[in-house]
Amino acid sequence: MTIAATQTFPGPAWDELPDVTVLESWPPQEQLPGVEVLLEAVVPVGPNELRLLPDLRLVGNYGVGYDNVDVAACGERGIAVTNTPGVLDAAVAELTLALMLACRRQLVASDRFVRDARWRTGWSRPERLGHDLAGATLGLVGLGRIGSEVARRATAFGMQVIHHRRSDGLPLDELLRTSDAVSLHVPLTPETQGLLSRKRLALLPDGATLVNTARGAIVDESALVDELVSGRISAGLDVFADEPRVPERLLDLPNVVLTPHIASATVETRAAMTRVLVDNVLAFLRGEPLPNEVSA
Ligand code: 8YV
Repeated sequence: MTIAATQTFPGPAWDELPDVTVLESWPPQEQLPGVEVLLEAVVPVGPNELRLLPDLRLVGNYGVGYDNVDVAACGERGIAVTNTPGVLDAAVAELTLALMLACRRQLVASDRFVRDARWRTGWSRPERLGHDLAGATLGLVGLGRIGSEVARRATAFGMQVIHHRRSDGLPLDELLRTSDAVSLHVPLTPETQGLLSRKRLALLPDGATLVNTARGAIVDESALVDELVSGRISAGLDVFADEPRVPERLLDLPNVVLTPHIASATVETRAAMTRVLVDNVLAFLRGEPLPNEVSA
């Protein structure tokens, strides 16, 4: 049985796996017969890649979101797919709050202001005034595990939390119109791709903040860039439509805080994700039901 991985994953659980071949490139340069388990993070796994792994039986996706994996194509070939839910909710919620605070309190622009030795007068200038989270309305798009953790933290900050999801909550357009800050916590699926269209982004009130720690393609990225260049809204963005490409026009904007898809990137959380990934492989090797199998 050969286990291949696109990279190693951090934490002690990794050492519980039998030999793992770390691939030099993705997709592989040539067919890799004999590889039955593939462990990967955020790389495309579709029909083209599957052709190169003719004996594959399991894809272990390191992450809760598995939009990068064509689960239907895997299913047709008898390949199971697992993910790592439940262990990264707090870390993602924390980065969500961090981005929201950074935008609302102009944290990055203020840091730059000090480092550039522009802090010459005794008190901050009027344009440096931010906005309180306390008393502001946070609109959550999606209220699953991660969204609920964000709600708890935002409530502790004194925010009024409203939500939109398929089963209940406010209609999306109404939520966008009435929120001071909006945060996205839905998976990327055909239904959510481009959910925040140009028309919908225009519904956000002047001065509102959009936070995205979910997936870039949930938002019409070029419409978002236009809104941000106009200065009408601010945004904290951890994810982008075509990572690692970040739209050039965002790079100099003071009303945008950019991070490189790090919402789950803490020592504790990444080790916990590896634990879940490895538990699924070990179950597969023992022929037991997979704890975190996903379906198309
Ligand atoms: C990434 C994530 O998978 O869990 C998710 O859906 O987006 C992240 O945790 C992780 O960064 C992999 O590198």
